[in-house]
Amino acid sequence: MIRLLYISTAREPVTPEMLADILRTSRRNNVAVGVTGLLIVGGRRFLQALEGPPEAIFATYDRIARDPRHFAVVQLARDTIVERQFPDWAMGSQAGRTAGVDADVSAAVAALIAPITDPSLRGYFSGFAGRQAAA
Ligand SMILES: Cc1cc2nc3c(=O)[nH]c(=O)nc-3n(C[C@H](O)[C@H](O)[C@H](O)COP(=O)(O)O)c2cc1C
Repeated sequence: MIRLLYISTAREPVTPEMLADILRTSRRNNVAVGVTGLLIVGGRRFLQALEGPPEAIFATYDRIARDPRHFAVVQLARDTIVERQFPDWAMGSQAGRTAGVDADVSAAVAALIAPITDPSLRGYFSGFAGRQAAA
């Protein structure tokens, strides 16, 4: 399996409706192809980890990168993995939070990243949450 991590910027402010729509589509598609992961939103920034079989990850990432709802999609890491960090999440996120309107993503993110054992991956997510909290 591989794990891919990227950051991007939303073209418009991220509304709860936009996030809900992205998550609905993501969960439906990801379950079908064995992709799991975590999507964090802070202001207009997205940070997403995708893990699963290489073909599924590349096809999914290709679609995501072409999505007009965001731009400046930059891959931060791509690793071969033997174990998933998010085995239970077709796509985890700040459920129930008003993403984009909520300045304090750090508390929500802290709970979401608690199960992450990979130190490098944890660093990316906690750094992202810390920067949002400081902004
Ligand atoms: C930040 C962001 C994250 C996304 N994550 C996923 C994802 O994990 N899986 C997925 O299938 N689509 C994801 N999408 C949606 C895709 O860009 C695309 O709209 C969708 O895969 C199209 O699926 P459909 O043809 O079934 O409607 C994401 C979009 C954005 C903007």
